[in-house]
Amino acid sequence: MKNEIIAVVGATGKTGVRVFTKLQQLGYMTRGLSRSSEIAFDWSDRATWGPALEGVSSAYVTYFPDLAVPQAESDMRDFTELAVAQGVKHLVLLSGRGEEGAERAENVVRTSGLEWNVVRASWFMQNFSESFMLDGLQSGELFLPEPKAEEPFIDVDDIADVAVAALTRLDLRNQLLEVTGPEILSFANCVGTIARVSDRDIGFQVLPVEAYLAAAKAEGLPDDIAWLMNELFVNVLDGRNEWTTDTVEQVLGRPARSFQGYVENTAKTGVWAAVGE
Ligand SMILES: NC(=O)c1ccc[n+]([C@@H]2O[C@H](COP(=O)([O-])OP(=O)(O)OC[C@H]3O[C@@H](n4cnc5c(N)ncnc54)[C@H](OP(=O)(O)O)[C@@H]3O)[C@@H](O)[C@H]2O)c1
Repeated sequence: MKNEIIAVVGATGKTGVRVFTKLQQLGYMTRGLSRSSEIAFDWSDRATWGPALEGVSSAYVTYFPDLAVPQAESDMRDFTELAVAQGVKHLVLLSGRGEEGAERAENVVRTSGLEWNVVRASWFMQNFSESFMLDGLQSGELFLPEPKAEEPFIDVDDIADVAVAALTRLDLRNQLLEVTGPEILSFANCVGTIARVSDRDIGFQVLPVEAYLAAAKAEGLPDDIAWLMNELFVNVLDGRNEWTTDTVEQVLGRPARSFQGYVENTAKTGVWAAVGE
């Protein structure tokens, strides 16, 4: 298996970079793919897909911007058909919990004829340090659409460990791996932990989703990302995911990482220091 190429689609992203690094450390042959990779891969340019999959045996697939968007299902159908035609054997798809659009894309992979895994994850802890919530935390005031529910945030290092297990262990083939963190937390609680551990005064304000999106669009938020934020905060974050799984422990033989541990490790990098400090 170590002589076969494992592709990582979205290799510079939050999970992709970790999956790519872990595979390399374990001695697997890897091919990192994204718009900026040596062999370029672009979801919006199908001409790039064939060369990117040439000689690939299995792949970890992250979709951009999110598997919940309407385009994801047809892209995934064309992608899996091409993968079958090019001799790819196994896909591990990163998905999101409770998203109807994502489930349609998952089903395309599950019925593609390829060996498959779906790693269906809760919200990432790293959304606070590597994504849309970082700016607000750095500036000292985080604004969000009012969350209607709490969430079992997961550390993306756990997602990457589970994805690597799925890519490399035959006993896990053809399974849905629904992964969450160990505890259900409110956004306010998370911001409080980050402020306390990084010794900052950070405010947290919620707005009606319409007001939040109107302000964000005025500052340049693209329409498709605004649609996605609405989908995630209004239709997905409604309580349907307020439960945890023990899949991380089942697969890895150790408990999922805690939010407190994530915050302590991440604060040391200085990422939440006040802007200008
Ligand atoms: N955030 C969450 O809480 C959460 C929870 C569950 C599931 N998910 C899923 O996570 C997936 C995203 O994975 P991630 O967070 O690991 O990635 P990410 O951090 O969002 O990074 C995106 C990656 O995709 C690449 N990319 C951007 N546009 C692209 C395009 N048009 N074609 C090809 N590659 C492109 C980027 O590299 P380049 O810029 O070099 O192209 C980068 O490597 C989404 O599908 C979402 O459904 C997210």
